[in-house]
Parts: sequence; structure tokens; C-alpha cells
Amino acid sequence: MKLKKMQKLILILFFNLLLRQCQQIISTKDEAGNHIKFVFASCFAFDRQQKHGPVSLFHNITKHNPDVFAWIGDAAYVYNFTQAQQLFDSTKNDPGYQKLLQNVQTKIIGIWDDHDYGVNDGDRLHKYKEEMRDIFLNFLKEPKDSIRRTQQDGIYTSYYLGQSKQVKLVMLDVRYSRDPYGKEAAEMLGEAQWIWLDKEFQDENANIILLTSGIQVLPDDRLVTEYWYCQSRQRLFDLFKKYKDKKRVVILSGDVHFAEILSEPDSIQIGYTLFEITSSGISHSLGYSKYPNFFINTFLPNTYNEKKHRLFDLNYAVADIQIDLTNKNNTKINFTIYDKHENPKLSTIIQPWENKNEQLTKTFLNRSNHYIIRFALHAFRNYFFDYSYIGALLIVLIIIIIKTVKYLINYIFKTSCQKLKTN
Ligand SMILES: *[C@@H]1O[C@H](CO)[C@@H](O)[C@H](O)[C@H]1NC(C)=O
Ligand SMILES: *[C@@H]1O[C@H](CO)[C@@H](O)[C@H](O)[C@H]1NC(C)=O
Ligand SMILES: *[C@@H]1O[C@H](CO)[C@@H](O)[C@H](O)[C@H]1NC(C)=O
Ligand SMILES: *[C@@H]1O[C@H](CO)[C@@H](O)[C@H](O)[C@H]1NC(C)=O
Ligand SMILES: *[C@@H]1O[C@H](CO)[C@@H](O)[C@H](O)[C@H]1NC(C)=O
Repeated sequence: MKLKKMQKLILILFFNLLLRQCQQIISTKDEAGNHIKFVFASCFAFDRQQKHGPVSLFHNITKHNPDVFAWIGDAAYVYNFTQAQQLFDSTKNDPGYQKLLQNVQTKIIGIWDDHDYGVNDGDRLHKYKEEMRDIFLNFLKEPKDSIRRTQQDGIYTSYYLGQSKQVKLVMLDVRYSRDPYGKEAAEMLGEAQWIWLDKEFQDENANIILLTSGIQVLPDDRLVTEYWYCQSRQRLFDLFKKYKDKKRVVILSGDVHFAEILSEPDSIQIGYTLFEITSSGISHSLGYSKYPNFFINTFLPNTYNEKKHRLFDLNYAVADIQIDLTNKNNTKINFTIYDKHENPKLSTIIQPWENKNEQLTKTFLNRSNHYIIRFALHAFRNYFFDYSYIGALLIVLIIIIIKTVKYLINYIFKTSCQKLKTN
């Protein structure tokens, strides 16, 4: 009996050791290990990059000389599996990306979203997901024996940012086991990934978790973008709440072709202000779309932020992390979103253990105003999903009406002004 117990203990110790060895540490240039420069971005399509000239934003990203660059999704736009390898190669051969690859100071890591998984809005039913897993992980130069190549529920992974291990980057796979859209759709991650995620939160070393999700997590009020299914979103927030005395979370996301800083001060009630930083659009952004901003903003209610916290331009995000090894309350992250001219356009300092950012969160609008939109959306998704094309038609119709009214008002004012002038 005693011997068995002993064996068990040794086995557990062995596994712990193994687990700890598996946990990758991204070391920093700073010897003390308490300053980390981390850049993240998403959405690179080679053909769209061509429109902006020979050098991509990676050229500018390389200039920051970050310790680590992370893809938050859409490293290539694969519409047809037969062309997948070729499309990843064109990302790899982009002169800007080559510069970043050649910068030995920067470790490149990443997770996929739908386009580099191989299907627009892809889910667990994707036929070629194992083939795509190989192509994607080869693109990232993931070792051949990496567990990411075989584990259940996809390619999720985590890294310590810095030798101190106090900050951890945890990257979720929101494609591999995700339910297809539909009324009953609930699952985003799959049970094996949920169990793994819980283990990540049990990690004794880290006190801050930067959690990546290809698609945005907070917004549940958007008409056209993808969203976390209600049940999984709630399960995620319950997890944050369960570990709120040990871990503080900041969410990082991509997908939407613009950048924004979002926050949820109270209504989720996990016990602290949850921030989300979205950076999307290395090669293309809504700023270049033919739709006017008025049209775009129609789809973006001010539930989690205001217009001034959004950037419709090519962008990437720089996270400057200052760890205080003796008092986690003082650990600070300066998140700055840069545009294509290297101007810092959006910026916020988050001190995850001290919600010093009350001022910022207070400026976020009164969310109660948007209950109707959210209620309507939830009802729509939960009860009328199969008629979504009617919904889409309705939305287009409403926007046409709004646009027409706006045009008419402009027209009437213009002509009456002209009349005044000529008079
Ligand atoms: C994918 O590409 C191949 C070769 O370019 C073509 O033969 C095939 O029809 C394409 N499939 C789809 C679904 O477009
Ligand atoms: C950190 O902040 C919390 C609450 O704001 C406080 O209770 C705690 O004593 C602080 N810890 C240190 C080491 O300053
Ligand atoms: C955060 O970093 C950016 C870029 O270095 C800088 O422009 C900004 O002033 C910093 N924010 C604060 C509050 O220090
Ligand atoms: C990069 O930054 C420079 C300014 O330093 C700017 O002129 C250029 O347009 C930026 N973008 C690219 C794609 O190089
Ligand atoms: C927020 O909403 C409440 C009730 O709807 C209202 O009384 C309050 O004035 C609003 N606050 C702001 C800042 O708009």
C-alpha cells in the first residue's frame, strides 16, 4: 500500500516536472526579466497587401524590436485548401515579414482564426482541419514533436512572457471544436480545451493572464461580426470569477479589420474591470472600405467603448509590460495601437491588479441604452437563427432607409442654404 502511494507521488512529481518543462518561457532582452515588449496583430492577406506597396506593416513592427510577436489569427486568407500552402508561403515571403523572421531578437508565435484555419467563419466540421493544422504549425516552425500537432480540441497553447513567469500568454483555439452557427450552437472550445484552460488558471506562477481569442469576446451587440456563443462566453467569465483572487485577465483579439479598446466595468460581475484589446488589419482594414464611417458605426453600438476608442486603419498593437517582481499591484501594461504611419493612435495603461483605470471605464457610455439591441440580437440568435437571411435583409433595408433620410436632410439643407446664399 505504502509503496503504491510512493509510486503515485513519484509519478505526480514526474508529471509536474514534465509539465513545467513543457511550459515555454519567452525570455526578454531585459536581464532582470521584468520588462517585456510584446507585439500582436492579425489579418494579413498577401493580395491585399500588394495594394499598399512592397513593404508591409511588418517592416514597422520589426523596428520596435519586440521580444515576441504573436499572430492573433488570419495569417493567410485560405479560401481553397488546394492553395493553402501557397498562400502561407506568400505571407512568409512578404519582405516585411522576412525582416521580422530574420530579427533573432523576436520570437514569433501564433494561433489561427477562421481564414488561416481554412474556412471563412470555420467550425469543427472543417474537412481539412488536420491538414491545415500541419500547414499552420509548419508556418510557425512549431517542433515536429509538439503536443499542438496532436492534442484534442486544436492548437491552443501558452507561454510565460519573461523569466519571472508572472505574466502568461494563453492562446485559445476558437475554431477546431467550435459548433457551427445555428440556434443550438453553444460550444466554442471543446471539453479538453476547457480542462486545459482551467489548469492554466491553476498555475501558481502567473498572476496575470493575457488571453487571446481570434474573435472578440466582449462584444455581444454586433450585427455582422462573429461572436462567442452565450453559454461558452458565460462559462469563460465564470472561470475568470472563480480565479479572480489569483489571476487577472486581459483579453486580446483580432478578426474585425479595425482596432479598439473595450472594457466591461460591471455588468459581467467577475469582480474586476475586464479589458479587451483588439488589433486587426495588417494588410486591410475597414478604413479602406467603400462604406462611410457612419455606415460602419451603425453596426457598432457604444456598449463597451466609444467611437474614439476605435481605429479604422491598418494597425498593430504593442504591449509594453513592466513587471514589479515584489508587488504585483504595480505591474503595468501599456497597450498602444499604431497606425500604418507609426503614429500611436489608441493607448491605455492597464494595471490589472489595481483597477486604477476607473477613469477610462467611467468614460464608457451608459450601457443600459443598448439593452434593446442586445435583447433583440439574443432573441434573434436564440430563436430565429434559421431565418437569418430575413434578418440580414431587414438590416440592409433599415440602413438604406436611414441613409436615404440622411441624404434627404442633407439635400434639403443644402438647397435651402444655397437659396439663402443666392438671395
Ligand atoms: C480549388 O482550387 C483548385 C485548383 O486551383 C480548383 O480545381 C478547385 O475547383 C477549387 N475548389 C473550389 C471549391 O473552388
Ligand atoms: C495590493 O492591492 C490590494 C487591494 O488593492 C491590497 O489589499 C494589497 O494589500 C496590495 N498588496 C500590496 C503588496 O501592496
Ligand atoms: C504608452 O506608450 C506609448 C508608446 O510608447 C506612449 O506614446 C504613451 O505615452 C504611453 N502611455 C503612457 C500613459 O505613458
Ligand atoms: C512605416 O513607418 C514609416 C514611418 O517610420 C512610414 O513612413 C511608413 O508608411 C510605415 N508603413 C510601412 C508599410 O512601411
Ligand atoms: C444612465 O442611464 C440611467 C438610466 O437609464 C440614467 O438615469 C443616467 O442619467 C444615465 N447616465 C448617463 C451618464 O448617461
